[in-house]
Parts: sequence; structure tokens; C-alpha cells
Amino acid sequence: MSAPRDAIVELRKVRKTFRDQEVLKGIDLTCKKNETTVIIGGSGAGKTTLLRLIVALESPTSGEIWIDGTNIVGLGERETNRVRQKFGMVYQYAALLDSFTVLENVAFPLVEHTKLSQKEITERVVDKLGLLGLDPSVIKKFPSELSGGMRKRVGLARALMLEPPILVYDEPTSGLDPLTSRLVDDLIEEMRERFGVTSLVISHDIASCFRIAHQAVLLIRGQIVARGTPDDLANGDNEEARDFIVNSGVDVRAIKRVGPRSSSAEAPKEARTVETDR
Ligand SMILES: Nc1ncnc2c1ncn2[C@@H]1O[C@H](COP(=O)(O)OP(=O)(O)OP(=O)(O)O)[C@@H](O)[C@H]1O
Ligand SMILES: [Mg+2]
Repeated sequence: MSAPRDAIVELRKVRKTFRDQEVLKGIDLTCKKNETTVIIGGSGAGKTTLLRLIVALESPTSGEIWIDGTNIVGLGERETNRVRQKFGMVYQYAALLDSFTVLENVAFPLVEHTKLSQKEITERVVDKLGLLGLDPSVIKKFPSELSGGMRKRVGLARALMLEPPILVYDEPTSGLDPLTSRLVDDLIEEMRERFGVTSLVISHDIASCFRIAHQAVLLIRGQIVARGTPDDLANGDNEEARDFIVNSGVDVRAIKRVGPRSSSAEAPKEARTVETDR
């Protein structure tokens, strides 16, 4: 059976066990094209593990993972590499290499995966940095000479270099001040709007979730306990979801969204109300 047509990421009954610890306990998840899915949940819930399975850095113990129409579970090394190229990863703290310049950091995917000349590579890097509002002069700088927000943009430029259809962010706002965090939210939405990408974001930042998510997913101890629009989670009948949001201390009613709400907000009610999987 194939995945629904507007789904670009689809997980079915995905389980992951490390030695004797079952970290993911039967995950079903659909991310629609050109939408932003935000996965929230406490420390150790399995969020990063889930992300690593989706980007094919790790394989599930069982279940299916469909990416852009292909079940990637059990693919060979070459096909798996092709799947990985569909993703741009934006790591926590931007994960830039400190002893390399911005140019070398951002050029990395092009050097690895293309046969472009140094001149063409530099042009493309300057181009991408420019799209993200960074001046060409930053290419000679080292990460330590940039602000946190600039580093995040450089990390994003690197993730965008191969123009992937799916961008994946692991805690993009952690360690940033509230103002810079909001700028990162704006950037995530801008990437979706300008480049038509699908975004998958892991976050502890409830404000960020309310600003950018079309679909919010609450992962607790390896299970999805609630999903829906952020408002569905805050106001629905799932107690764990409401508690999680209330305990964050964020006044979610005061948050202004960036970008449109989900197209699936028009879907039949049962498709968007908060679900409980257990
Ligand atoms: N490669 C691994 N080998 C063994 N155990 C692992 C491995 N990766 C993750 N785990 C375990 O899986 C559990 C979930 O880890 P994961 O990193 O997915 O959590 P998380 O939700 O991302 O947490 P955080 O919010 O702290 O980043 C943890 O108990 C962790 O120790
Ligand atoms: Mg994590």
C-alpha cells in the first residue's frame, strides 16, 4: 500500500528498541507537503530518535517509513543515501565546524555531492547566504565571530544548499534568547513559504510551536498521546496535552501565528480533533 498523495512523510506502526529499551512504541505519523509539523515532548521521550529514523540515519526495529512515496525501511546503502538527500538538517546550536570558515561550512554539501568548481560553489554559497539576509563578507568569518542568530542562518543556508524538499530541525530555538527564537520561527515559516519545503521541527518551545505548527504532536515515553492543531492540543479533551502546555508557563492565547493555519483545519472534525493512541 502506498502513502496518501499529499503526505511526504508517513510512519506506520514504527517501533525502535535499543538493547532492551523500547524507545518508540508504535508511531503513526503523517506530515503533509508544505506544512510544518512540530513534535513536542519531555526529555528522553524519543524525539531525536524519531527524527533520526525519518532521515534514514537509523532503521526502525519494525514498521514502515514512507518518504515521498517510497518505503525506506530495508533499502540498500545507495538508495538510502538518495533518501538522505531529500532532507536538510538544522542541528541544535547550528552545529557549525569551528575551525572552518562560513564558506567552508556552507559549501560542505556541495563539495560532497556535486562536481561544481570552487568559483561556482562560492557563488552559490553567497547566493544562499544573501537569501537569508547575510552579507557576502561573512563567508570569511569563523562561527565564533557570529551571533547566535547569524549562526542559525548559516546552519540553515547549509541545510538548504542541495535544495531539499524536507527540512528537519532539532530544537532550533534552544539556547537562543526569546527575540532570536522568534526570528528563527519567522525563518522556518519563510523557508516553507518561499521554497515550498515541508518542515519537521522538534521543540521544547511551546511558543514556537503555536507560532509555526500546522500539526502539533505530543510524544510521551515513546508514544504519540495527542496530535492536532496547537489550539486543538491546548483546548481539546486530552488532559496530558493540556497539562504539558499549561506547565510550559506560556500564555498561548497571546501568541501571534506566523503564516497561515493548516489547510486541514477545513478537514472533517474527526480528522483534526485531538486523538489518543493508547
Ligand atoms: N543510540 C542509542 N543507543 C541506546 N539508547 C539510545 C540511543 N539513542 C537514544 N537512546 C535512548 O532513547 C531514549 C530517547 O532518547 P532521545 O534522544 O530520542 O530523546 P529526546 O526526546 O530527543 O530527548 P531530549 O529532549 O532530551 O533531546 C533515551 O532514553 C536514550 O538514552
Ligand atoms: Mg533530543
